[in-house]
Amino acid sequence: MLNMNTAGYFDYNATTPIDPRLLAEMLPFFNDRFANPSSAYRQGCDALGAVETARKRVARLVNAEPSEIVFTSGGTEADNLALFGVARRKNLKGNHLITSAIEHKAVLNTCRQLEKEGFSLTVLGVDDMGLVDPGDLRRAIRKDTILISVMQASNETGVIQPVAELASLAREHGVLFHTDAVQTVGKIAVDTAELGVDLLSLSAHKIYGPKGTGALYIRRNVQIAPLFYGGGQEGKLRPGTENVAGIVGLGKAAVLCQNEMAADARRLGEMRDRLEKELRALFPKILVNGAGALRTPNTLHVSIPGCDGSVLVAFLDGAGLALSSGSACSAKSRAPSQVLLAMGRSEDEAVEGLRISLGRFSSEADLEKLLSELPQAVRRLRA
Ligand SMILES: Cc1ncc(COP(=O)(O)O)c(C=O)c1O
Repeated sequence: MLNMNTAGYFDYNATTPIDPRLLAEMLPFFNDRFANPSSAYRQGCDALGAVETARKRVARLVNAEPSEIVFTSGGTEADNLALFGVARRKNLKGNHLITSAIEHKAVLNTCRQLEKEGFSLTVLGVDDMGLVDPGDLRRAIRKDTILISVMQASNETGVIQPVAELASLAREHGVLFHTDAVQTVGKIAVDTAELGVDLLSLSAHKIYGPKGTGALYIRRNVQIAPLFYGGGQEGKLRPGTENVAGIVGLGKAAVLCQNEMAADARRLGEMRDRLEKELRALFPKILVNGAGALRTPNTLHVSIPGCDGSVLVAFLDGAGLALSSGSACSAKSRAPSQVLLAMGRSEDEAVEGLRISLGRFSSEADLEKLLSELPQAVRRLRA
């Protein structure tokens, strides 16, 4: 077993360590099995076979056909491919896009860019639990709406949106629906058929796979334009020599999640609930952001009154604990979380955000350490 150095790690929503079982499957593709999957000789066919096996595995995890999976360089590229891919289609019936205020920057900033390029954008608000109201979506859909993008679960709060209901509204109006499922795939059952979505993004490094690999599910018969131009790889939707080792890693990550997700979710859900209960007892005025809504089982997001989240993170870092005050992409900015502001939290409460995200290698010892260090850090900070 490799030393993964995950003691005190509470930031699995930012990234996860590579599961050693998956690394073992990836390694040969860096040396003996290095061939280009497009090459016609034996070794090329072997690499292509490995890519196609991974495609089947990823497809199975989200109940899709292998032909509906396109490998990308991660969640950000999958989101960009979905949004630009639809916006750049020929014969668009309009130029209106809808998204939500709590999206990851990979969606929100892509929508903002499309707005600069002439598209019209509606950003839906959320309620105090962080949920998009299907009624708001229904009212926002126009004759010229071409795409709706609402994430399945928040990377900050873990709150899970009613995606099946939102996607069915889109379908009723003949509008395509994309969901960023980077924080749900591999953590809860994600079924593209049940959700009724047209496009779905996922990323390997959130599910114990390598960074720089992800995929976009594109429902059969949905046509989108590529982001890049080049060779014929990935059905011409993602040209460029495949990241074979990364794709193999994502495929194995999908298999492990499929087999272990239910047990992991149960264990992590119990740990999260215990943590939540103990933190409520320690800090009676604590706000649990997203409490009352369905949340991913590994995520707990709180605001502790009088404690700036980023300062608390620095204090806890000093004690050997790794947490975030919000999303990893904004971890170094001390700006209040846009997600918490959208949920109606005050500026102070939004600055006080602290995200605790658990994962496959989280242990009871980690939890005990956090429960003993956090009150001390809060006391020091308030003093
Ligand atoms: C919800 C969500 N979408 C997209 C991304 C971006 O994924 P990647 O880091 O693979 O580009 C992340 C990762 O931070 C995320 O949490």
